[in-house]
Amino acid sequence: MIQVRDLCYEYADSGPILRGIHFTQAPGESVALLGPNGSGKTTFALHLNGILQGVGEVVVCGIRVAPETLEQVRRKVGFVFQSSENQLFLPTVLEDVMFGLLNQGVSVTEARPRAEAMLESLHLTPYADRNPFHLSAGEKRRAALAGVLLMEPEVLILDEPTTFLDPPGIRELSAMLRKLEIAQLIITHDSRFALETTTRAVFFEKGQIAAEGSTQEIIDRFDWL
Ligand SMILES: Nc1ncnc2c1ncn2[C@@H]1O[C@H](COP(=O)(O)OP(=O)(O)O)[C@@H](O)[C@H]1O
Ligand SMILES: [Mg+2]
Repeated sequence: MIQVRDLCYEYADSGPILRGIHFTQAPGESVALLGPNGSGKTTFALHLNGILQGVGEVVVCGIRVAPETLEQVRRKVGFVFQSSENQLFLPTVLEDVMFGLLNQGVSVTEARPRAEAMLESLHLTPYADRNPFHLSAGEKRRAALAGVLLMEPEVLILDEPTTFLDPPGIRELSAMLRKLEIAQLIITHDSRFALETTTRAVFFEKGQIAAEGSTQEIIDRFDWL
């Protein structure tokens, strides 16, 4: 599903950030990306849908991530950014959730009922005509997730999805993710959330994978609870 070989990356002014990452993920597998702030987790994840392109090889669903495959890759990989504000930008939640489909050339007549059904399944129906910016953090995150899931990705990447959520919001998100059958890569500092939503974990340290194993094993080993 995801295959990364010897991935290295540096920002224009940063020095090396990713230093030879090897990573694989099977179809349907849920993996937690753990590790301290600044260890390169977000930078790594941004390579999986080609927002960043470093040196090395990134293959997603059999497609090598490269400038000419970006459109294909982004249909396979759904990305819920750490800040939902970066993802929501239209005047209403419904329009925002439909945007990706419309952008793919799907007609409004077809996109609208699909978007409405997705809103329903994420308990967002009452917010369909509201301005996304006026929603609570949890509602914003669900709206962003709705738009991403509507594209029917094969891999779902979530960057610190529990940030700004209250405990019931976290529980609800966790339950929702456990029901999804697609592969998930979840960056989080919330160990309990990681344990609930993933079976395997990868621990980042200074741009390298310091360890991988079962989520429980990695949390114990790094005292990461
Ligand atoms: N746009 C950028 N330009 C320069 N350096 C960056 C940029 N984004 C992140 N970095 C640096 O890259 C390192 C890894 O950041 P990041 O991938 O966000 O880590 P994490 O997600 O694990 O907290 C940090 O040292 C950070 O300062
Ligand atoms: Mg990050």
